[in-house]
Amino acid sequence: MKTLELGQQIAKILTGGSILALTGELGSGKTQFTRGVGIGLGIPEEHITSPTFTLIQEYPATIPLIHIDLYRLETHADIQSLGLSEYFQTPYIVIIEWADRMQRALPSDSLRLQFSHGEHHEVRVVDIQGTGSKSRESVNRLNALLSQNPDNDFPRISR
Ligand SMILES: Nc1ncnc2c1ncn2[C@@H]1O[C@H](COP(=O)(O)OP(=O)(O)OP(=O)(O)O)[C@@H](O)[C@H]1O
Ligand SMILES: [Mg+2]
Repeated sequence: MKTLELGQQIAKILTGGSILALTGELGSGKTQFTRGVGIGLGIPEEHITSPTFTLIQEYPATIPLIHIDLYRLETHADIQSLGLSEYFQTPYIVIIEWADRMQRALPSDSLRLQFSHGEHHEVRVVDIQGTGSKSRESVNRLNALLSQNPDNDFPRISR
């Protein structure tokens, strides 16, 4: 399964208020995955980018998407000054790249997706975990959805 497609599939099981915390090295597919979620929500693929200075982008959709990229943030104080907790109260879908930069301030109930490069150049691995009851239900729904397609060996899902 491709990174974009995984995002599209996950979009089917997300609900307003879902928070996705993405971690993983440079180029491991976090933005690509976010594009996939966007496509699943009806946002054109090319709209979702990683501009150099924009930390937070909002995309209108049936369930609006908030895309946050913390790569350029250095300190905990910087992160606090963004007031991200506001976004965690909304009925939007929130995706955070480089979520490990705000580890302590992440909502306790969120979907954690750890991206990494696989053994081969073209391969990515995603480890998916739910840390609370809402996100665990999302993981269950995702498992059920992906198990309908037998050649879905891409994400590794743990609870
Ligand atoms: N499963 C995959 N197989 C092959 N290439 C992939 C896969 N997933 C993503 N890529 C490619 O890897 C490159 C980097 O992806 P992407 O920009 O999504 O990474 P990122 O994790 O957001 O990186 P950054 O940390 O710089 O934000 C892109 O060219 C993308 O097309
Ligand atoms: Mg990125």
